[in-house]
This record gives sequence, structure tokens and C-alpha cells, in this order.
Amino acid sequence: MDKLITMAVEAMSHAYAPYSGFHVGAALLCADGSVYTGCNIENASYGGTNCAERTAFFKAVSEGHRQFTALALCGGMGGQIRDFCPPCGICRQVMREFCNDDFPIHLLGPEGQVRTLTLGQLLPGSFNADSLG
Ligand code: THU
Repeated sequence: MDKLITMAVEAMSHAYAPYSGFHVGAALLCADGSVYTGCNIENASYGGTNCAERTAFFKAVSEGHRQFTALALCGGMGGQIRDFCPPCGICRQVMREFCNDDFPIHLLGPEGQVRTLTLGQLLPGSFNADSLG
């Protein structure tokens, strides 16, 4: 878990966030032990922005991975972690496509502490593939 957190912090240094100034890094552990990192990538047309978590998921899925074990996440203004950075709603929904309720999300706090939440806690009663019948 420490390694995953370290990789999320490293990924945060690649954030492209000239509009918000808010830098985010993510590290996604795949079932086979490989790790895909991601940062947020903003766009002058703001809606074109991609979050760090989705960057990591899309990188991994596009390389053939669909089984995931854990995600580490951190973020803050100018890359300074002042609080836990919870995943946005769109990213929670993207995670739900590939992960179950027990999927752990490790959030890094300002003192180096880690708060772990499950996807089920972050997105209860979700709409998912089962909802389509
Ligand atoms: N951001 C993420 O990368 N992940 C999240 O879950 C929350 C928000 C990014 C998007 C945008 O570049 C910046 O943080 C401010 O919203």
C-alpha cells in the first residue's frame, strides 16, 4: 500500500492543471500486480478535463486490464496536500464499471496518514451493468 501511495504522489507531479491549479495523482493496482498511474489533464475547454483516476483506469483498461485490487489517490492546490482528496462522482462511476463494492481506495492526508474507503461507501446504490438486466 505504501508503494502505491508513493506512486500516486509521483504521478501528481505530472498533473497538467493550468486552470484550477489543483494537482491530482492516482495509482491503480491491477490483479496481476502491475500498476498504472494517472494525473489530471485539464483543457481550455474545461469539460474536456480528465481526472487522475480516470487517466489511470483508461490507461490500464486500454492495455488489457479489467481486474483491479486497489487505488491510491492524492491531490492539492499546487501539489500541496492539505486534505484528503476524494474521487469525483464521474470517477466513482467509472470505477464501478470494473470494481465491486469492496474495492479499496486509499486517500493520502496532509500528515502522511492514509484513509481507506471502499467503493461501496463512496457510491452506494450505484447504477451498474446489473441494472441493465
Ligand atoms: N480532479 C481529479 O483529478 N480527480 C478527482 O476526483 C477530483 C478532481 C481534478 C479535475 C480538475 O483538473 C481539478 O482536479 C479540479 O477540479
